[in-house]
This record gives sequence, C-alpha cells and structure tokens, in this order.
Amino acid sequence: GVADSYADPVRIAVIGGTGLQSLPRFTYAATLNVSTPWGQPSSPISILHHPSPTSGKPIPIAFLSRHGLHHEFAPHEVPARANIAALRSIGVRTIIAFSAVGSLQEEIKPRDFVVPDQIIDRTKGVRPFTFFEKGMVGHVGFGDPFDEGLAKVVRVCGHSLEGEGVRLHDRGLLVCMEGPQFSTRAESNLYRSWGGSVINMSALPEAKLAREAEIGYQMICMATDYDCWHTSEDVNVEMVMGHMKANSENARRFIGAVLDELSKEEHGDLVLAKHLDGQTKFAGSIT
Ligand code: ADE
Repeated sequence: GVADSYADPVRIAVIGGTGLQSLPRFTYAATLNVSTPWGQPSSPISILHHPSPTSGKPIPIAFLSRHGLHHEFAPHEVPARANIAALRSIGVRTIIAFSAVGSLQEEIKPRDFVVPDQIIDRTKGVRPFTFFEKGMVGHVGFGDPFDEGLAKVVRVCGHSLEGEGVRLHDRGLLVCMEGPQFSTRAESNLYRSWGGSVINMSALPEAKLAREAEIGYQMICMATDYDCWHTSEDVNVEMVMGHMKANSENARRFIGAVLDELSKEEHGDLVLAKHLDGQTKFAGSIT
C-alpha cells in the first residue's frame, strides 16, 4: 500500500548499516526503486515522513539499507556509487550514515557511539571509488571528510540522550579497512599506533562519493567489539551482531533525535548543504 513515486525533493537521508536495516516508528510515504548510470542501489529507498518539531509539517526522509534488505552485500560489494547517485537524484543534500565499528581504544567500550572527524583509507582500491572518470575529470577536497555542521548537530543530540544510556565520544579517527576478513593483531596495533579510535569497512568510498556529489555527510559509529588488539579472542560476527541488537534501541533513538533536529526550519541551510559551494561538476551531470 505505499506509493512508488514521490513528487517533492527529499533533502535528508539515512544510510543504515549492519543491524540498522530499517527505521521503525516513522510513517511510510513511498518506496522508490531508483536506477542510476551506476546501477541499482543496494535497496529500494524508503521515504518516511517525519513531522517537523517546529512547524509540524511532514518532512520527507530517505532511508537506504547499505547492505541490502537482507544483508546480501558484503562491505566490498556495496554499490556505493549507485547508492549515492540514487540519493542525489531524488534531491538529497544531507546524509547521516550509520556503521558498526570495532574499537581501537580502551575508553571506547562496546555499545559506545563515536562521531568520527577523520578517516584513514585502508581499502585496497578494488571498490569503484569515484564518479570522476571517462572524460569527467574532477578533484574534490577531502581534508575534512565529514561535515562539521552536521557533526555538531549529531553531538548535541547524542549528549541529550546520555540519561537514557547513550555514551558518546565527540571525535574520533576512523580507519576504513577493506575486509571482509577482520584485521590481524599486528594491523590492529599499527592502527592504534597511528591514533586510530575505531575501525570499519564501510565509510569508504561512501564518504568520498558523497563529497563528489556535494552532499553533506556525517557518519555515526557504534562500537560492537574491541577488535583483536584487546584480547587473545578474535572478533566474530556474533559479537558484532549481539552488541548491535542489544543497543539497536539506542541507535534508533539517536537517529530519531538527529532527524528531529535536522527537520527544524532553522537547519534549512545545513540540510540544503549551501555551504558546499559547487566545487565539483557532479551537480550538472546528475540531478
Ligand atoms: N565492524 C565492526 N567491528 C569491526 C572490526 N573489528 N573491524 C572492522 N570492521 C568492523
């Protein structure tokens, strides 16, 4: 019973990661099957209605499940270009991306949230990682891979939920590795020596492609394990899923609070990413 088209531009999107394959308690408005020159995104895009806390007007939010509706895409198989292009094509200018991560620091405990502000790329160049090829040459700045305006909103929302058991680290260096195998203990310790806070397999190329597409992007990480540096025990999927499941209610609350805040009219500029001043050619090539 949901529509397969949506007339108005949708400015805000959530990309859900492992353990966050849907956003319940929002009103479904439409399900969009979008095709792009880079193929199909990893899932249909759900359009949800979120009442603006200031005006009461329904604000449309796009939700995309990074690993597919049934977790069928491994991190290196996620069609990241199609995902970002599909979101851009329906009008998205702001993405809140969610990811399960391993912790590289004692003080970042499993189930803690981290708002990363830097990334080290340890993917292996096997994932298609740019829109700029085949005659469309472009270079974008990536000195600050995340959007500081969005990060501020996310931090305030996270801290507002501290009474409800949300523990938040305001900054962090995220290492994005290729996978799908977890790190060796030597690698894990190397990343610690670099100052790494957390590690995942999903921030890249997603964040780079969002930058090329002039979409403001901030990731929210949730620690699901201590990676292998911490004990003699290896990381395993049960560990990751166990903590993710146990804390998914907090994850949903957190995302809900961020969407509440971003739906306020006062964040119109942030949501339209007007601070990104058309440095790239992407806007002209797909809209
Ligand atoms: N995602 C969740 N835990 C992880 C870990 N330890 N390494 C890489 N990606 C992860």
